[in-house]
Amino acid sequence: MQEKRIIVPTEEIARQRRVMAAVRAYAGPLGLRYHVLTFGCQMNDNDSEKLAGMLVEMGYAEADAPEDADLVVVNTCSVREHADGKFFGHLGILHSVREKKRPGMMIAVCGCLMRQAPVVDRIRKSHPFVDLVFGPSDLHRFPEMLRLRLTERRRVYDVGTEDTIAEGLPVLRASRTRARSTIMYGCDNFCTYCIVPHVRGRERSRPMALVLDELRALASDGYREVLLLGQNVNRYGMDTGDGDFAMLLEEVGRIPGLRRVRFMTSHPKDVSRRLLDVMRDSPNACPHLHLPLQSGSDAVLRRMNRGYDRTRFLQLVEEARDRIPDLAVTTDLIVGFPGETDRDFDDTLDVMDRIRFDNAFTFQFSPRPGTPAADMTDPVDPSVVTERFDRLVARQNEHMLAHHRRLVGTVQEVLVEGRDPGGIGRASGRTPHNRLLHFGVPVAGAGPSGILPEGTFARVLVTRVTTFTLEGEWKETLP
Ligand code: SAM
Ligand code: SF4
Ligand code: F3S
Repeated sequence: MQEKRIIVPTEEIARQRRVMAAVRAYAGPLGLRYHVLTFGCQMNDNDSEKLAGMLVEMGYAEADAPEDADLVVVNTCSVREHADGKFFGHLGILHSVREKKRPGMMIAVCGCLMRQAPVVDRIRKSHPFVDLVFGPSDLHRFPEMLRLRLTERRRVYDVGTEDTIAEGLPVLRASRTRARSTIMYGCDNFCTYCIVPHVRGRERSRPMALVLDELRALASDGYREVLLLGQNVNRYGMDTGDGDFAMLLEEVGRIPGLRRVRFMTSHPKDVSRRLLDVMRDSPNACPHLHLPLQSGSDAVLRRMNRGYDRTRFLQLVEEARDRIPDLAVTTDLIVGFPGETDRDFDDTLDVMDRIRFDNAFTFQFSPRPGTPAADMTDPVDPSVVTERFDRLVARQNEHMLAHHRRLVGTVQEVLVEGRDPGGIGRASGRTPHNRLLHFGVPVAGAGPSGILPEGTFARVLVTRVTTFTLEGEWKETLP
């Protein structure tokens, strides 16, 4: 368990910045390169952007593949069982790359798995070639750890147990158009199947003024879309008394130049009517709500400790759709939770049929040691889980295709993300509902190269659809 939550003092960040400058003076002339491998959720993606930001500040350049890198950082996830196996598999591969192709390559591992003591013990005992080990709350100390490894040739295994908030770290973002911003860390919900509260610590929000400063800076740097991240954004500000999530979203609506705002994840038990009102009235909140159902059975929801029942969930979606009629609703679903009966599973299919989710992340229950569900004594037979899972995915695919079919012939606003790998004169991007749209761009419409630059908004006629994507033709480029 974690003991303390602390905001890392600005003096400490300033000290780490000085360490970064010192590492740069040492490493810069050597032309060193890094590669970051990221597993897990968007919060880990955001943490990796911070690791990359620090590495660039320390004079490293990005390498396209681990075999071209002098330092490989593996940012891990522990949400499902096979995560550990996959991680040790990757470590084995990296070790052999180091042995055969890149002697001297350093290997650093971090992220949620490192908060599980048996994993760190196994690294210590069986993978002593790992150079640095740290946890998700220790990112700000990474420069110091790297300096020790480089200059004193010390292996550093140092996973902190404090719940930190570190502001002011450099960030190298993966996209120049859409940015992620983690607005809160940790989770206090303790769903019985989930490891996240055990590895990410207690729920803690960043101060609203600092979040807004970051978003304003992103907008003035040309970012058109931001994704606000937290395990349960509806609890934002509850620990600081600094205003709530609805208030934050309202303020974000006032940032000039920021055209789209998304957020995830909203826990159904904490969605307020006021949040739905703000979404409806906001000039930049996307008409998209990610609302994990997990199960449609009241008995299973109770055993999951989710804090809502199917009636409340259905009501919530109805209230949201009343306010925002074309709202896209996406979800997460787990099949095979201990004790799930055929009838429980039918209840999940029933809720899916009533709501017709626009998309769903579907998971088979995976026992995580240390969580209550891992000790539940009535596991579902694996063949039954597979069979239910296939039916669940098939049902979801039907619903997605039906949603997509209704869009044929409509014109959608797209934020261009890049060229469609499908061909020259093609581009792709996302609609406000987060649907991926590939489309043809006539040379005349798009400027001399026949390519729409990333970050452009365009109106696109949807001409064909598949279960997972939309296809269309460019109509006009928007200012
Ligand atoms: N905080 C978010 C929420 O409550 O919806 C999501 C966090 S979790 C990283 C993402 C999803 O992973 C969950 O919504 C759940 O569906 C799934 N998940 C988490 N633990 C799981 C487990 N032990 N087995 C299967 N799926 C799991
Ligand atoms: Fe896990 Fe539940 Fe927290 Fe989501 S809300 S991170 S599922 S404990
Ligand atoms: Fe995985 Fe940690 Fe995210 S366990 S899903 S990387 S919070």
